[in-house]
Amino acid sequence: CLVVAPLSSTHALRLEKTHVPVSPAQAQLLAMLVQILGADRCIEVGVYTGYSSLAVALALPESGRLVACERDERSLEVAKRYYQLAGVAHKVDVKHTLAVDSLRSLLECGEASSYDFAFVDADKRMYEEYFELLLKLVRVGGLIVMDNVLWYGRVADPLVNDPNTISIRDFNKKLLEDKRVTISMVALSLICLSISYLFTY
Ligand SMILES: C[S@@+](CC[C@H](N)C(=O)[O-])C[C@H]1O[C@@H](n2cnc3c(N)ncnc32)[C@H](O)[C@@H]1O
Repeated sequence: CLVVAPLSSTHALRLEKTHVPVSPAQAQLLAMLVQILGADRCIEVGVYTGYSSLAVALALPESGRLVACERDERSLEVAKRYYQLAGVAHKVDVKHTLAVDSLRSLLECGEASSYDFAFVDADKRMYEEYFELLLKLVRVGGLIVMDNVLWYGRVADPLVNDPNTISIRDFNKKLLEDKRVTISMVALSLICLSISYLFTY
C-alpha cells in the first residue's frame, strides 16, 4: 500500500479540496499493473496532487517515463514536490494544459502506439475523446485504465441523469460493443482495457 506522508509546512500549499485522489487500493493496483505489464512509457490524465501518478512513477524502471497531464497549476505544484521528495521527478514529464491538447500533441510528435499504459481520472464528459486518443497512443497489448466507470453506482440508476453520469453511462455502453479492446470492469470502479485488435488509422 502506498502511503504518502503529508508535505512539511515548507512544502505545503493551501489547496481547496476540490477533487478526490484514488484510494490506496487503487494506487496499489495501478502500480501492480504497471509492473506486470513491464511498462516503460505511461500516461496519466488528471494528476491532481499526484497520488496515483506517484504510484505509477515509483513502479516504473529508472528509464521509465510518465506523461502527467493536468490543467490546474496549483495542484501540479503539490504533485511536483511529491515527485521530488520520492526521487521520481526525472521520470515524470508534466504537461500543464488541457489533457486533450497534450494527447493530441503527443500524436503530432509521432508517438502513436509507443505507450504501454494509460490511466484516466479527469473530466468525465471527455472520457470518450480521451479513450480514442489513448487508443492511438497505447500499443497493442497495452492497457488503458479508466477511473470512476461505476460512478458510485449512479450509472446503474435510471433516475440519475446529470451530464457526467450520462457521459460515463454512454461510454460504458459503447465499450461493450468495441471490438478493438477487451475489457474488465472491477468494483474498485476502474475499467481495464487491453488493446487486442490491430487497426489502421
Ligand atoms: C479526480 S482528480 C485526479 C486525482 C488523481 N488521479 C489522484 O489520484 O490524486 C481529477 C483531476 O483532473 C483534472 N482535470 C479535469 N479536467 C481536466 C482537463 N480537461 N485537462 C487536464 N486536467 C483536467 C482536475 O484539475 C483534477 O486535478
